[in-house]
Amino acid sequence: MKLSVIGCGYLGAVHAAAMASIGHEVVGIDVDPAKIAALSAGEAPFFEPGLPELLREGVASGQLTFTTDISAAHGAKVHFIGVGTPQRADGYAADLTYVNAAVDALLPHLSPGDIVAGKSTVPVGTAAELAPRIEARGATLVWNPEFLREGWAVQDTIDPDRLVVGVAGGADVSTRGARSTTGDAGGEADVSTRSARSTTGGGEVDPAEVLREVYHPAVAKGTPFIVTDLATAELVKVAANAFLATKISFINAMAEIAEVTGADVTQLADAIGHDARIGRRFLGAGIGFGGGCLPKDIRAFSARAEELGRGESVAFLREVDEINLRRRDRAVQLVVDGLGGAVFEKKIAVLGAAFKPHSDDIRDSPALDVAVRLHGLGARVVVTDPEAIANARQKHPQLTYEASRDETIRDADAVILVTEWDEYRRELDPEHASTLTAGRVVVDGRNGLDAAAWRAAGWTYYGMGRP
Ligand code: UDX
Repeated sequence: MKLSVIGCGYLGAVHAAAMASIGHEVVGIDVDPAKIAALSAGEAPFFEPGLPELLREGVASGQLTFTTDISAAHGAKVHFIGVGTPQRADGYAADLTYVNAAVDALLPHLSPGDIVAGKSTVPVGTAAELAPRIEARGATLVWNPEFLREGWAVQDTIDPDRLVVGVAGGADVSTRGARSTTGDAGGEADVSTRSARSTTGGGEVDPAEVLREVYHPAVAKGTPFIVTDLATAELVKVAANAFLATKISFINAMAEIAEVTGADVTQLADAIGHDARIGRRFLGAGIGFGGGCLPKDIRAFSARAEELGRGESVAFLREVDEINLRRRDRAVQLVVDGLGGAVFEKKIAVLGAAFKPHSDDIRDSPALDVAVRLHGLGARVVVTDPEAIANARQKHPQLTYEASRDETIRDADAVILVTEWDEYRRELDPEHASTLTAGRVVVDGRNGLDAAAWRAAGWTYYGMGRP
């Protein structure tokens, strides 16, 4: 199928390359000429495992092209909108400038029967506002939220754990008889797999069917394919991210309690995680969540709920945000305490800059935030990261960066792990570290180190929510 993807950031570039890899003819479109030049040369403009290979193959085969010229979207059957929706400068709401600009630019190139599939994370109600403009061109708008995780984006795009497609009017009674019994509330969820047929677009189009064709390998292997109305599809995405953020802040709140009681939050997480209703994933206590999605999405959700007169329904997300930010303070405090009350002129080795491993993304990175705060206290901060140094240096040129892990640690008074790359978490031998440093203070901001091994090597080990 011929597809266009508007916006070639983390979401769009991966989507374009992944769709080409499953046999579609894809044009990726972006307003940034530098990004397009890199992608056209088969190079990923950011670090994402597996993406360079897909780009090279797609570009070489001619299945995948990139351009700044939006008219190249003409002739595609489905147009995916994957532009960013950052936090507005003046508040918590999402900035829809790029979504509106993408739709405006695309409109003249739409043909009757085309489908516009929104993938960007938007405030609920956005699709309903956009739909009339798209329908006026005889095309159909669907909302197809994206759940990819950075670092696993290629796999998550080609083989997602579920596909959600919101269509105007929602799903009619399922004609495929798919019933899902996976709901854990004891009830049987009726998941319609077929959308209402839409007669917009100058002919009978079932937009959900077209999306099934797009995602044919995942559909063929039985991936849950959930057809909803537009508002539900938009909400599914923010609800998922709100839940994940809440889960992380829940365990970090338990870490705060553990800190005043002498309990160990990692054991607590293991123990409650064995309850299948709770599950162990996303119960990693530490310096909390960051990145381009969770922080801004929970804030945009709060802002939208306020606009809808339902601010109280998600008031807890403010707490989630606050707990999350407090953990950065805690990590800084542990370093200060570990060094006897002051870090002024002390050398601190900061292991990590990316907001999580397998990524060079430093947007709202708790790791960098901790480094910046320590620098602000007068410490000589040296930051290392396997992939994110270039991005970090651009954003925070005041910090010192060092590519080598061992040079970062050399002569340090304290070491703090803030991004749990394997290079630091698994491969850094505490005995080896002892031969490099001046001090023996290690703060484990991700609870990723083997505390017993570090202690055995003579270090004073501080975890997050651990004795
Ligand atoms: C997230 C969602 O997972 C994804 O579905 C959505 O499409 C985009 O937002 P991503 O931002 O790539 O994906 O990162 P994720 O793996 O969810 O991690 C988010 C943050 O939470 C990271 O900073 C990570 O370090 C932190 N985290 C995660 C914890 O602090 N503890 C955990 O147990 C898990």
